Amino acid sequence: MAILLPGGAGYIGAHTAVELLNSGKEIVIIDNFSNSKKEVLESIKQITGKDFKFYEMDYRNRQKLEKVFEENKIEAVLNFAGYKAVGESVQKPLEYYDNNIYGALVLLETMKKYNVKKFIFSSSATVYGDPKVIPITEECKTGETTNPYGTTKLFIEQILKDTYNSDNSWDICILRYFNPVGAHESGLIGEEPQGIPNNLMPYIVRVAAGILPELSIFGNDYDTPDGTGVRDYIHVVDLAKGHVLALDKLDKEKQGLYIYNLGTGTGYSVLDMVKSFEKATGKKVAYKIAPRRAGDIAKCYADPKKAREELGWKAEKTLDDMCKDSWNYISKHKN
Ligand code: NAD
Ligand code: UD1
Repeated sequence: MAILLPGGAGYIGAHTAVELLNSGKEIVIIDNFSNSKKEVLESIKQITGKDFKFYEMDYRNRQKLEKVFEENKIEAVLNFAGYKAVGESVQKPLEYYDNNIYGALVLLETMKKYNVKKFIFSSSATVYGDPKVIPITEECKTGETTNPYGTTKLFIEQILKDTYNSDNSWDICILRYFNPVGAHESGLIGEEPQGIPNNLMPYIVRVAAGILPELSIFGNDYDTPDGTGVRDYIHVVDLAKGHVLALDKLDKEKQGLYIYNLGTGTGYSVLDMVKSFEKATGKKVAYKIAPRRAGDIAKCYADPKKAREELGWKAEKTLDDMCKDSWNYISKHKN
């Protein structure tokens, strides 16, 4: 029996593939490399010493997807495929709705056809919009997303809830990631945004590496201790391990629809991140204060208690690890 990973060549999918293989699971990856590279597959094999099946294809291609289910004994699906750039989603909403929502529909329909009903979905803290209560628990209100990307996450969560309500033999886990950063300690896999990055950590490492001249800190007049935005940064390897435990939960418990925050529970400001990065790597990060970025919120961090109690999961890596591993990856892949 194998676990199917659409988008498994991407940033979070590849790290999860490693953790699944290390825990003795068999996996099948499908990816169209729209936001990743073929070499990642070799890196996963190199890190784990294990092999797996791979299909280069679009996960929206129903015929090809059915063939994957015909050719393999799939027991569960962890879906990482989709687009994730917030700004781009505002420019290209139809592409985002098509890839993320239509893709999820094709996947769920195919799963239903082959009677595979274990599903783990990569959601995001973005579904909480501008949170009224901090730290954020899973019971906090969702909605009022500020961009089409966030709305795709909200809609897919609703589709999953409706699917489970219509048929309680589905076994679904929604994981709401906070801010994933870092890379595998081997430096073989990591985050590779195309063009100029929008997210903080990829920007910081590129300034430190001399690829970009300076970081713009978007606003220092927020209602936070130093005025800069506060987020819950989580090491991607901790996040990946959360998926293995979520899968164990679906295997052990009776069928259900479960929702978990995957965050550390600690918020760090942009200035904390710059200082921690400099301390961890000995590299200077030039920065200037710039106006606020549209759509940003002051603070967002998780209450990770539910995942701790029900999954036995806790983020273990430190901010120092996140900075060192991000730097190690870019140092090896600068060119
Ligand atoms: P990523 O872009 O690195 O990985 C996505 C992978 O899916 C890529 O390898 C891409 O080539 C592939 N893909 C995209 N469309 C496809 C299609 N139609 N058919 C086949 N493959 C396709 O993104 P990631 O950071 O690994 O994110 C994985 C999931 O987690 C996404 O759903 C994302 O929205 C969600 N998420 C990410 C973050 C984050 O900060 N990285 C935060 C919250 C949630
Ligand atoms: C962003 C997305 C969110 C997505 C998440 C994935 C927006 C509005 N939100 O979250 O939907 O799930 O990425 O990780 O884009 N910052 C700077 N300068 C920079 C980049 C960022 O000061 O060049 C600041 C931001 O203002 C924010 C913090 O750093 O306070 C983190 O930003 P970022 O990494 O983009 O993540 P989010 O905005 O939390």
